[in-house]
Amino acid sequence: LNVVVNAVQKAGKRLLRDFGEVEQLQVSVKGPGDFVSAADIRAEETLRAELSRARPNFAFLMEESGSHGAADWEWRWVVDPLDGTSNFLHGIPHWCVSVGIEKRIDADRSEIMAGVIYNPAADEMFWAEKGVGAFLNDRRLRVSGRKDMKEALFATGIPFAGVPRKAEFTQTLARLMPQVAGVRRFGSAALDLAWTAAGRYDGYWELGIKKWDMAAGLIMVKEAGGFATDPEGGDPYAEGNIVAGNPNLQPKLREVVQEGIAAAGAAR
Ligand code: IPD
Repeated sequence: LNVVVNAVQKAGKRLLRDFGEVEQLQVSVKGPGDFVSAADIRAEETLRAELSRARPNFAFLMEESGSHGAADWEWRWVVDPLDGTSNFLHGIPHWCVSVGIEKRIDADRSEIMAGVIYNPAADEMFWAEKGVGAFLNDRRLRVSGRKDMKEALFATGIPFAGVPRKAEFTQTLARLMPQVAGVRRFGSAALDLAWTAAGRYDGYWELGIKKWDMAAGLIMVKEAGGFATDPEGGDPYAEGNIVAGNPNLQPKLREVVQEGIAAAGAAR
């Protein structure tokens, strides 16, 4: 974890400098609604250099450059160098660096053992380690204790242009809105999970996100005493469909997401 904390601090410093001169950054379009900037790429290079120097045997799964290292890795870093790229490019200080540490169990299974999510603009370092707990800087994190949907504040991600499952999203939102205190979409899946771990949100759901968006956040929510599953209650990591939250409200949120998915299917 020390290795990761140092690496994300270094990448974060670099990103903050680029954030101050965001108009000058070179930006390219990966797909509809999906952007990458020179800042994402520089941060990824910093992380790769720092992490591989400390642990030469670990493999990588990285948002911008893909997989590196042995195919039969035992350990790998799962890295989003800049989660919340659209916020970053619009000058909104809500974005982060996210690094998960994944261990292979057997040919088909792996486990996230630790994760770090760093928001440089707020200087908030979220970290978690299996069996140790989840922390914000040096303060222990717990998910919220709310039980009543009427008091709940949930976060989500709105599918952008190139992403499928828009009907599932709108059907879920239509069902959820009348039942809860509010729904937020701040634009960084990793921070949505970190904030759920911190009890700021009572839960978060999104369909079709990537491993690098959720690896570190998954362990954070679990170590803060929350649940993080797919809408059916299984492992969210493979398909990228995630419903996270405190143990009282996550099952209720999951039910609403399941209803939304079923309604979207029935309408087709
Ligand atoms: C995106 C953000 C966003 C989520 C998208 C992600 P990126 O990651 O996490 O909140 O809704 O699904 O792709 O592209 O900014 O690293």
